[in-house]
Amino acid sequence: MNYKFPADFWWGSAASGAQTEGIATGDGKGESIWDRWYSNDPSVFFNEVGPDQASRVYEMYKEDVKLMKEIGHNSYRTSIQWSRLIPEGRGKVNPDAVAFYNSYIDELIENDIEPFICLYHFDMPMAMQEIGGWESKEVVEAYLEFAKTCFELFGDRVKKWFTHNEPIVPVEGGYLYQFHYPLVVDMKRAVQVAYHETLASVKTIKAYHEAGYDGEIGIILNLTPSYPRNEEDPEDVKAAQLADGFFNRSFLEPAINGVFPADIVELITELDLLPDYTEEELDLIKANTIDLLGINYYQPRRIKKKESKSEYDSVMPDDYFDNYVWPERKMNPYRGWEIYEKGIYDCLINIRDNYGNIPCFISENGMGVEGEEKYINEEGRIDDDYRIEFVSDHLKYVHQAIQEGCNVKGYHMWTCMDNWSWTNAYKNRYGFIAVDLEDNRKRTIKKSGYWYKEVVANNGFDD
Ligand code: NOJ
Repeated sequence: MNYKFPADFWWGSAASGAQTEGIATGDGKGESIWDRWYSNDPSVFFNEVGPDQASRVYEMYKEDVKLMKEIGHNSYRTSIQWSRLIPEGRGKVNPDAVAFYNSYIDELIENDIEPFICLYHFDMPMAMQEIGGWESKEVVEAYLEFAKTCFELFGDRVKKWFTHNEPIVPVEGGYLYQFHYPLVVDMKRAVQVAYHETLASVKTIKAYHEAGYDGEIGIILNLTPSYPRNEEDPEDVKAAQLADGFFNRSFLEPAINGVFPADIVELITELDLLPDYTEEELDLIKANTIDLLGINYYQPRRIKKKESKSEYDSVMPDDYFDNYVWPERKMNPYRGWEIYEKGIYDCLINIRDNYGNIPCFISENGMGVEGEEKYINEEGRIDDDYRIEFVSDHLKYVHQAIQEGCNVKGYHMWTCMDNWSWTNAYKNRYGFIAVDLEDNRKRTIKKSGYWYKEVVANNGFDD
């Protein structure tokens, strides 16, 4: 069968500033929460490799943009590091950062690669964390100023902006499950953080629209379809709806419909977890919805009503859900994540049916692989057939969703060059292009990169 995609489909990949740039505190960059966490406790990071060891895009971006072009990219997402542009989070702008991002953006455009820019990808400036991070309304205002500075500096050329990448992750990681700084475990504070992320997003969307820029602004959400483990069990069904509310709808609903999901509001009210908010802020949320949705899809959740106590009991209500990996399913043998290609289709159909079929694209999807060196062939290239299979199987479902009327504009794989993945550092490799840590970050296109090039050239593929 032939899988042909619509004309002008966005083909490319995604990454973030902190995960790729390197020069973590050089050239005037301020400290971020990652830089601080690493200097406090390098042992948390796989092989003690920290953000200063990211793939050195700061120095190598010209070469990298050529490689992106070589493998067919017509678009690419990265983020502007807040702490690089405004080292203290507010106040003075770093001229070296302006020069770097200007040159990087220009290089992409000159090579016919449209830059998609995200404003917040987990990288709170340390100075802002010290005054409360996303718990603080002052930080919401500082973020808004940072965003406006980005629009003023780069908005003449960047036409696709995103306020956040996966905003649920700093909530879960930073305030519930301790895999992000500031390593807090507190449900009430987590709710406040989530609320302020949405508030920061809508204020930024308002500012962008009011300034009349010629472009679009949206948000990138990691949507994890929640399936009841046993569809016949009403308790599992209810738990799956709650998990969907907590992980997906608590950002999806305000972003697209301007309101928070009623069941989640009811739950947090019952639990006395409501954040500090004003009616005026709720009106702002109502009035400033997104133009474009980015969907990161990796894996679904298989939900069962909670039966046993777990380490999450300190933050979750007693009758909450358990998230089971389904053992009968296909798993990513390297990462341990379930591979369920149809989940990408279910996400898109959900947006078509329940969210006004708003324009959207797959902003991340990909496969993290540990020990990829073992797939190097005699010519020194990684033969990652598993990645080709993974991407094509997902693309088939994206294709089907488009055939069925979903308003899907593009597909970005995570990621272009192997990059630094937070506390996992380089444990799992995700790229179309290998980065050699032993040899000056030398780049080598993997088999999947050449395959992607063909897909883009044909605007689809045969199977
Ligand atoms: C989601 C995040 O946006 C990104 O930062 C992360 O590295 C990838 N997924 C891979 O896990």
